[in-house]
Amino acid sequence: MKIDKIGVLTSGGDAPGMNAAIRAVVRASTYYNADVSGIYNGYEGLITNQIEAFNVRSVSNILGDGGTMLKSSRSEEFRTAEGRARAAENLQKAGINGLVVIGGDGSLTGADNLASEHDIAVIGVPATIDNDLLNTDFSIGFDTATNVATSCIDKIRDTASSHNRLFFVEVMGRESGFIALRAAIASGAICAMLPENNTSIEELVAILRKSYRNQKMSSIVIVAEGNKNGGAVDIAREVEERYKDYETKVTVLGHLQRGGDPTCFDRLLAGELGVGAVEALLNGESRKMIGLQGNKTTLFPIDECIGRRPDLNPNHLKLATILSI
Ligand code: F6P
Repeated sequence: MKIDKIGVLTSGGDAPGMNAAIRAVVRASTYYNADVSGIYNGYEGLITNQIEAFNVRSVSNILGDGGTMLKSSRSEEFRTAEGRARAAENLQKAGINGLVVIGGDGSLTGADNLASEHDIAVIGVPATIDNDLLNTDFSIGFDTATNVATSCIDKIRDTASSHNRLFFVEVMGRESGFIALRAAIASGAICAMLPENNTSIEELVAILRKSYRNQKMSSIVIVAEGNKNGGAVDIAREVEERYKDYETKVTVLGHLQRGGDPTCFDRLLAGELGVGAVEALLNGESRKMIGLQGNKTTLFPIDECIGRRPDLNPNHLKLATILSI
C-alpha cells in the first residue's frame, strides 16, 4: 500500500517534547509530499472523528512548548474491537492510510491492535516521562522530567540542610524507577526506593542510622510512586515510628514533572523519531516502534517494545549506592 496521507495523534499521559514530535511528523510528511492531518484528543478523537487537515504552518511555534497541542486522553473505548473499528472507519473516510502514534506502552499497544485488525499502517513514537519502553534508550519527555525533578530536589535540599531534616520526595513512575534512580544520583539522595529494588523499611532505617552516625545531618530519600512499600507519605510515617533522630518532611512532586518546556535533548529526540516515523511509513513499514539506541534510530516490532519494563541500568544502581555513603 502506498502511503500518501498520514495522521498523527498523541495518547496517554502527556510528555514534554510531544509537540516537537508532532511538528516533526507534520513537517516531514510535507517534505516528502504526503498529506498530513492532526487528530485531536488521542484515540478518543479518532473514534469521534476529530480529524483536521494540517499544513506546515499548523505546527508553528510549538517546538519549545510542554504538553501536547493535539491534546491527549486514555480511551477505554479504544481498548475494545468495536471502538477500534469506529476509529478505522473514520481514518478510511479521511483517506488516512498511515498513522503515527506518539505515546507510551498502552498507546502503542492500541496502535498495534488497530493495525492488526484493519488496513492501516502504524508507527509508534515512544513518549512517556517514565522511560519504560523496551528497545529504545530514551523515550520523549524523560530527560525533561528528570531535569525538573532534579532541580526541585535541589531546592528541597536547601531547607533539608538548613533545618537538619529528612525529606521524602515522591517522584512519578508507576511501574519503573527510571526517574527516581536518575534524579537520586543527580541530586545526591541517600536512597532511592524503587519498584525494582524492594528496599525494606528496616533496610532504609539502617541506612539512615548509619549515615547519621557519620555526621550526615540532613538527608533526602527519593520514592518512586510504584515502589512496594507505598508512597512517600506512607514510608515517612513508618520511618518516623522506628527512627526519631531526624525531623521528617514529605514532598510529592506529582504532575510538576510532566510539565514545562522540553530540554534540548528531548526536542532533538522528538525531531529524530518524528521524522524517522514518517520515513518508516513511506518505506512500507508498519506495526513498528521507532527508537534510539546508541545514537542511531531503530525499528522494532511494537510487540517487542511493550508489556515488559526494561531493566534499570545496573551501573546506575551501583553509582547510587557508592555515591550516597
Ligand atoms: O505514565 C506517565 C505517568 O506520568 C506516570 O508516571 C504516572 O503514574 C501516571 O502517568 C499518572 O497518570 P495521570 O496523569 O493520568 O494521573
